[in-house]
Amino acid sequence: MNRLNGKVAIVTGASSGFGRGIALAYAAEGASVVVSDIHETPNQGGFEADPQLPTAAAIREAGGDGQYVACNVTKQDEVAQLVRETVRLYGRLDVMVNNAGIYRAGKLAHEFALEDLDACFDVNVRGTWFGCQEAIKVFLKQGTGGNIVNIVSTAGLQGHPKQSVYNISKGAAANLTRCLAIEYGRDRIRVNGICPTYAKTSLTRALFDDKDFDKAFTDVIPLKRWGEVEDIANLAVFLASDESSYIHGDLVRIDGGETLCRFSV
Ligand SMILES: NC(=O)c1ccc[n+]([C@@H]2O[C@H](COP(=O)([O-])OP(=O)(O)OC[C@H]3O[C@@H](n4cnc5c(N)ncnc54)[C@H](O)[C@@H]3O)[C@@H](O)[C@H]2O)c1
Repeated sequence: MNRLNGKVAIVTGASSGFGRGIALAYAAEGASVVVSDIHETPNQGGFEADPQLPTAAAIREAGGDGQYVACNVTKQDEVAQLVRETVRLYGRLDVMVNNAGIYRAGKLAHEFALEDLDACFDVNVRGTWFGCQEAIKVFLKQGTGGNIVNIVSTAGLQGHPKQSVYNISKGAAANLTRCLAIEYGRDRIRVNGICPTYAKTSLTRALFDDKDFDKAFTDVIPLKRWGEVEDIANLAVFLASDESSYIHGDLVRIDGGETLCRFSV
């Protein structure tokens, strides 16, 4: 339980879903965690066991170190303030998890509104960009390296029908991960991405509850199940820890084997 001992981490979008799971797992492994989101309580309709309990309070209840700092990742000044506040609270920053994201789907490309495109780019691209940029500034100033984990998606690695605005935004986050790994490896700033397929969070609740979708989806997954928040959180711990010290610029698929083949057995 000490794989992240002494590290200071920010997790964006950490009130719900993956971000919450990652924040809880980091704190359980000894990190001090700044939990950040646009609202403090989890999204309704998710799979949280205790949906009324804010993440930072859940961390502290479990004996860990967590503080909530509000931040809308689409605003660069708020992201800069989040990083400043983290350094004020804990004296440094070691790990930045750019997790906040939104999903838009259900339309062919010509049917999407400009608002759908802008929303996906604002949160998934600009939000990830701002998080990377502001973290890198402080990492360079500290001079002791750093670690960025971007929550991408298998949607950033391939095409899917009826979610083009989401896929192109995640494609940008995937390529940003590669570019930054090339530019900042020499500064010992590691940058990696996590690419889940559908996992059980409020973002996918409607799909999970659709029995036809559930069957079609699990049929094509070799492991025959949905991803769980803990699956993603465990990988995020590994990537933030020194156990993964030579993994850099990778986009790690966590998809039950979904992207191996189009046919099921
Ligand atoms: N759930 C999946 O199946 C899945 C699969 C692949 C990738 N992802 C990605 O994982 C990340 C987390 O998704 P999730 O499934 O946990 O979703 P979620 O909706 O359960 O949680 C997302 C959190 O981000 C916050 N958020 C939204 N906009 C924000 C903003 N502008 N600034 C700060 N916080 C904001 C929300 O308030 C929420 O707490 C997203 O980037 C998503 O695209 C999810």
